[in-house]
Amino acid sequence: MASVYSEKVMDHFTNPRNVGEIADANGVGEVGNAVCGDIMKMYIKVENDVIVDVKFKTFGCGSAIATSSMATELIKGKPLSEALKLTNKAVVEALDGLPAHKIHCSVLAEQAIKAAIADYYTRLGIDPTPFVGELHDSCDGGCCHEH
Ligand code: FES
Repeated sequence: MASVYSEKVMDHFTNPRNVGEIADANGVGEVGNAVCGDIMKMYIKVENDVIVDVKFKTFGCGSAIATSSMATELIKGKPLSEALKLTNKAVVEALDGLPAHKIHCSVLAEQAIKAAIADYYTRLGIDPTPFVGELHDSCDGGCCHEH
């Protein structure tokens, strides 16, 4: 049976990168998806404004796993400013697409990264809003368009 999912999605779903937690993470973000109720937790380790390590755990579907896996690969080793520019759209493109009704799953990864970075700034006593913007910790599907 032909899959509606690209080979890259299947690869990241069956062999997800960066799954787990980081014991000494200095930023942790947890977000929920209002569409399906799935949950994503993202751990980042930041040194000199660079994300030196990132891991995630999710109670999410295969598309959430694949997008988070790809998103963590895209931000690992990158400065915070670059990680904050990562959109769910860019992650979906890097995966060669997702079926339209699964796009909302990709928002979970983007929001979890933003929440983890916001937590990192908050722990430093810095207001994250100027960097991260207003965080909506759940997605109603309406945020899956261009940001
Ligand atoms: Fe919930 Fe995909 S169906 S994240």
